[in-house]
Amino acid sequence: MGSAVVKILFVCLGNICRSPTAEGVFRAMAARELPELALTVDSAGTAGYHAGEAPDSRTCEAALRRGYDLSGLRARAVEPYDFEVFDLILAMDRQNLETLKRRAPAQRRGRLRLLLEFAPQCGLFEVPDPYYGGANGFEQVLDLIEAASLGLCTALRRGTLAPLWAP
Ligand code: 4NP
Repeated sequence: MGSAVVKILFVCLGNICRSPTAEGVFRAMAARELPELALTVDSAGTAGYHAGEAPDSRTCEAALRRGYDLSGLRARAVEPYDFEVFDLILAMDRQNLETLKRRAPAQRRGRLRLLLEFAPQCGLFEVPDPYYGGANGFEQVLDLIEAASLGLCTALRRGTLAPLWAP
């Protein structure tokens, strides 16, 4: 891995529920699991209609109950520059992954993945959108994202993703 900073972007639709949760959970988990690794962690939405807003209050409350403070995060839309900057862009669902693939330059598409690739034991490919659902949806989002964040830490520790950003 060397001393280079690894830059990871989490992406959902609105950047107020799933991807800010992933940003907060992964940042906390990586600080604990991979303290030696220099990371830049961010999140964004494929849609910008919540840009500038704090995460959804239900998202913040559920995350805080597990010790993750998301209150300082603010939503933003994915920008073309993100495809140049980030080493790995992890989408919460297939629809957002397809949107990213359409927008990304062809030579950067290999850096786009589904987050739940890192939690195959969960048996799901997508983090379900909790926005219009009940409270349990926010707990499921956290369960899935915690599992995938741990899997992502393991992949980073083992260096299995390094070919993606090798010079
Ligand atoms: P997110 O959830 O993509 O996980 O942030 C959503 C937030 C807002 C909307 C949809 C999904 N919305 O339609 O406003």
